[in-house]
Amino acid sequence: MVRSELRNGDGVAGEPAKLTIFDLQAKVERGEKIFQVTATDFATAKLVDGAGIDLILIGDSLGIMALGYPNTVAVTMDEMLHHAGSISRAAKRAILVGDLPLGAYHAAPADAVNNAMRMVKEGGADVVKLEGGEDVVPMVEAVVRAGIPVMGHIGLTPQLLSKLGGFQAQGRSAAAGAQLVRDALALERAGCFAIVVEAIPDRVAALISERLTIPTIGIGAGPQCDGQNLVLHDLAGLLVDRFLPQFGKRYAEVGKTIDAALHAFQQDVREGGFPTAEHSVAMDDAEYAALLLEVEGHDH
Ligand code: KIV
Repeated sequence: MVRSELRNGDGVAGEPAKLTIFDLQAKVERGEKIFQVTATDFATAKLVDGAGIDLILIGDSLGIMALGYPNTVAVTMDEMLHHAGSISRAAKRAILVGDLPLGAYHAAPADAVNNAMRMVKEGGADVVKLEGGEDVVPMVEAVVRAGIPVMGHIGLTPQLLSKLGGFQAQGRSAAAGAQLVRDALALERAGCFAIVVEAIPDRVAALISERLTIPTIGIGAGPQCDGQNLVLHDLAGLLVDRFLPQFGKRYAEVGKTIDAALHAFQQDVREGGFPTAEHSVAMDDAEYAALLLEVEGHDH
């Protein structure tokens, strides 16, 4: 039987066929780019899925974008699962990648397996992502052995912010670049189906992409990766006062549009433009007369 006959979702009328990790490899072989966008909830995931993006990342950056933390360090597994549930109820086609947050896989491979299982069973994710290179190989191997596909994440790994000395590009020296190549190869050998490479020199990302058989998905890693990731809130300009990372690009100013709408709403109400009869619930004249009789005790 050919794989296309087995696709999830094919049996549901009106719903697009669910993508699988095998479709990603096929895209790369056809020379097509892969698209991954981080969403935080039902509304944003619905937009991302509807636009035909291949992978929705339930990223722990939701700690910043949706929960208002300064970084991703404090994000818990329960917070991730809460958001994952709302995202998975919206997404019909895209592959759902559930980030495992700091502390969910660092102590032991068994933790990685248990939390990956929670992400799939409770959060509705299809696959999981975890940060780290050679150091997380035992965790990746354990999760893959348990039957859950794993996406790696190397370069700027924001969960280890203190160790990295802040949100800084990684792999700029020969030694650091070589370590990233070793990390990527180790993750591929451990069974990852794809790797995010974040904030590393484009030349290092290109070397990694050439050497791997699995797709690389770049964010701040140049154009030679097999795919690109952006966070929806950055891409669409949802948080008006948020600093846009050097490697981000804003394709819309949705936050400013919403701000204008909120001001227009207030002005409209003050000037009597909203609500009008078309936004109101009508009552029959006879019923109203009867109501007045009841509450006021006399006819008008
Ligand atoms: O959490 C996230 O959005 C991420 C991407 C930046 C890769 O990990």
